[in-house]
Amino acid sequence: MRTNSLIDPFGRRVDYLRLSVTDRCNFRCHYCMAEDMTFVPRQKLLSLEELYDVSAAFVDLGVRKIRLTGGEPLVRRDILKLVRALAKLPGLDELTMTTNGSYLRAMSQPLKEAGISRLNISIDSLQPERFKALTRFGSLEDVLAGIDSVLKANFDNTKLNSVIQAGVNDDEVVDLAQFAIARGLDISFIEEMPLGEITSHEREKTQITSKEIRQQLETIWNLVDSAETTGGPSRYARVVGEDSKIGFISPISNNFCGSCNRVRMTADGRLLLCLGNENSLDVRAIIRSFPGDMKRLKHEIIAAIERKPERHHFDPKQVDIVRFMNMTGG
Ligand code: 5AD
Ligand code: SF4
Repeated sequence: MRTNSLIDPFGRRVDYLRLSVTDRCNFRCHYCMAEDMTFVPRQKLLSLEELYDVSAAFVDLGVRKIRLTGGEPLVRRDILKLVRALAKLPGLDELTMTTNGSYLRAMSQPLKEAGISRLNISIDSLQPERFKALTRFGSLEDVLAGIDSVLKANFDNTKLNSVIQAGVNDDEVVDLAQFAIARGLDISFIEEMPLGEITSHEREKTQITSKEIRQQLETIWNLVDSAETTGGPSRYARVVGEDSKIGFISPISNNFCGSCNRVRMTADGRLLLCLGNENSLDVRAIIRSFPGDMKRLKHEIIAAIERKPERHHFDPKQVDIVRFMNMTGG
C-alpha cells in the first residue's frame, strides 16, 4: 500500500487531480466562456512533457485518479501521446477525460487504446437549434455521433453531464435522462456556477436547484439514493428498473466541500486548491526555474495542500471568481 502525502489541514485526502490540457475549445458555451475570449499564449501553456512531469509528481504523492479536461482536451495537439504516457504511470488507478464529445466520432477508439478508462461527455440539449445557440458553434449531430462511437468502443461507466438552467433547458431534464437511460449511460445534472464574468445572461435568473431537477425526474421514475461515488462531487440515485444512475452536482444548493478530494491544474500551470478560490501555486514557475527537480516540485505541492481552503462560497448574485471554467478545468 502506497502512502498519501497529500492530506490537508481539514483531514481531507487529495487523491484526484483534474488536469486542464488546454484552455481552448471549439465551442463557446454561454455559461462557460464569453463570446470573445483571449486564450493563453502557447509558450505559457505547459508542454506535454511538463504535464507528464507534474502528473508523475502527483501520482508519487498519492494521487490515484487523473481527469484530463480543458477547454476541450481533444483540441490539444498530440493528446494521445500524453494519454499513452500517463496511462503507464505506476500507481495511477484511473485516467479519465471530460469532453464536449464533438471529436469522439474519430477519437473514441484511439482514446480507449491509448488508456483512457472512462469518459464524461457534456450535453445540455437534444434539440439541434438550441444546442447550437447554447454552444454558439456546436453541432448536436457531431456529439450524438460521438456518443454512438463511445458505445461501440465499449467504454465502461460513460457519463453524460448536463448543466441545467431555468428558462434555457430545464424543459429537457426528462428528455436528457431518457436519452441516457435508453443507452445504459449515467447522467449528472449540474447547477450552474458563477465562474467568470459573462454578458449573455444574468446567472441569478437561470439558477435551478438539484432538488427541482429531481422533482421533475420523479414524475417519471422512482429514484433511490445510492452511496456510490465516482470520486467526484455527484450524489447519485439509482433509477429503479434501469441500469443507469442519475447524479446531482449541487455546488450552489448543497455544498460538497466537506468530502473534497481533488485539486486542479490550469492549462498554464497554476495549481488551484479550490474551485471557488483564487488560492493557487505557480507550478509552471517552479518547473521552469528548476527543470527536472522533482524533489522540489513535490515539496512545493505538499506545502500548497496545507493551504487548501475549507470550502467555496458561491453566490450567483456575485461573480468573485474572475476565472472562466475553460481555465479551471471542468
Ligand atoms: N457552471 C457549471 N458547470 C459548468 N461547466 C462549464 N462552465 C460551468 C459553469 N459555470 C461544465 C460544462 C461541462 C463541465 C466540464 O463543466 O458544461 O459539463
Ligand atoms: Fe467548451 Fe466545455 Fe466550455 Fe462548452 S463548457 S465552451 S464545451 S469547455
